[in-house]
Formats: sequence, C-alpha cells, structure tokens
Amino acid sequence: MRIGRNDPCPCGSGLKYKKCCLSKNLNNSQNTKDIYLKRYQIRLKSEKEIEGIAEAGRIAVATLDMIEERIQPGITTEEINTIVHEFTLKHGAVPAPLHYRGFPKSVCVSVNDVICHGIPGERHLKEGDIVNVDVTPILNGYYADCSKTFFVGEPDPDTAKIVAVAASCLKAGMEQARAGNRIGDIGWAIQGVAEPQGCSVVREFVGHGVGLEFHEAPQVAHYGKKGEGIVLVPGMVFTIEPMINLGRRNLRILDDNWTAVTADGSLSAQFEQTILITENGCRSLTPFPL
Ligand code: MF3
Ligand code: CO
Ligand code: CO
Repeated sequence: MRIGRNDPCPCGSGLKYKKCCLSKNLNNSQNTKDIYLKRYQIRLKSEKEIEGIAEAGRIAVATLDMIEERIQPGITTEEINTIVHEFTLKHGAVPAPLHYRGFPKSVCVSVNDVICHGIPGERHLKEGDIVNVDVTPILNGYYADCSKTFFVGEPDPDTAKIVAVAASCLKAGMEQARAGNRIGDIGWAIQGVAEPQGCSVVREFVGHGVGLEFHEAPQVAHYGKKGEGIVLVPGMVFTIEPMINLGRRNLRILDDNWTAVTADGSLSAQFEQTILITENGCRSLTPFPL
C-alpha cells in the first residue's frame, strides 16, 4: 500500500502525508495498519483475508442470481428464506443473519415501503412489487454482504425510477471509493444522485466495515460532505448500501423491532456491495453490474 507524498495523511490529521507521518518515519504499511486499528478500530485486510472474503462474495452473488430466477408473483418471503438458507449451506457457508442480534431468519427480505431488515414470513409477493434480498454468507469465517432490489412482474414508472436511482446511487458511491479520497466523498456522491431526482437518503442505517465480522468499523454514511471523514487507504473492506426513498427519508420501526419502513409509506430501494479499497480505485468483492 503506497500513499503519495502529497496525499492526505492516513492518520487523519488533515496534513499532507509528507508533512505528517512520512516525516515521522511512519511510512510503511504495518504502521498504516496499526494507525487505522488504534485510531479508528479499522482492520485493514491482508491478501489472504481479501481472497477469503472474495470467495464468500462469490457465493453471495450466486445466491442473488439464483433467487432472481425464483422471484415471481405468488412466492412468499418465507420461501425466499428457505431457498437462500439451503443454497448457502449447500455451498459450505452459513447465513450470517440467522440469530444475529436475535434476527430470526437467514436473509432480509424487504418489500415496497420496507427500507431494510424485513423478516421473511407469510407475505406473498404480487405483480408490481419490489423486493430487496440482502444476503451475507460466512465462508471459512469470512463475511461478504450484498443485496439487490428486484421487480416482481412489470414495474410502473415510479417503481422503475426508485430502483434505477438506488442502483445509480451505489454506483456513484463506488466511484468515490479509492485510496486518498475520504469516507464523506461517498455519501456526498450518493446524495448528489438521489436528491436532484426528488428522492431521499435514509440516515439511520449505514454501510460498514465487513469481512472478519458482520459489522466492523468504519460506519459509511450514505450522506455527507465532500472532503470530510476518514481517509480511504488500500486494504479497507466495507459495504456501500444506500437505502433510497421515493418520498421523505423518515422511517419507523415496526413492533417486531427489526422491520424499518418509510414513515410516509413511499417505496424504498437498495443495492449493496462489499468493496475493497485498492491503490487506484475499488474492487468489488461481491461484483454485479449496476
Ligand atoms: N445485511 C444487513 C446489512 O447490510 C444487515 C442485516 S442484520 C440482520 O448490514 F440481522 F438483519 F440480518
Ligand atoms: Co451491510
Ligand atoms: Co446486507
């Protein structure tokens, strides 16, 4: 991991690297690793860990591809859970959501105005619905987290719009994810796509470090200011997972203590990938086209 002399110092001082840690002889990757752990509790990943997460990511993406084929009017969210659960086990992985902080199922399935953390159950999908399926397999101890929002049958124009905007938001966030940029650049780019379209960005849930655990530091807000926040360095692995509402951003949590729904009942869509910061950009460890 090389940091340019004129890049912002990874220690977060706001100084150029050459005026800060470089001049203090803190110019090797082990030091960056130590600084990120001490200062931010961020675990920069080794080559071996990255390949482990990428392997989990292949199962995650394959799960979404497989489930896309099965999404059709009439299927219940419980059936989606069963299919995801069995597919995950068949590939030698374990579904991280199951019993995570008391979550009762193996996958989050969030329909229409459900923003995230929908619990699978007896609900039948119907023509015109949208459904986000959020999967996190654990393979050999490594976690990969991703989600897509699918159409059930043919979408009406508003439905097509919110899904397209949510996908564009993730893409715009990922385009900011490179060494030397800051975490705030990601949220700033996402807001810059969603808000001019009249859509809103949910604030209560954020992207997160991932890989060795389900949720690690840092938090990755989907709103923010350009140039603010932690400097991105190679070896960081985190999710970007903007939740975008057609109406207002406010939410409420149902009595099950999990399901987050839009306060105004408007549609909400989300796409999520797990990404690795590299020298010259980012590499998705759960890649799919956006
Ligand atoms: N997969 C979600 C995320 O993107 C987290 C779900 S937590 C659960 O972070 F318990 F609901 F599974
Ligand atoms: Co996530
Ligand atoms: Co997720």
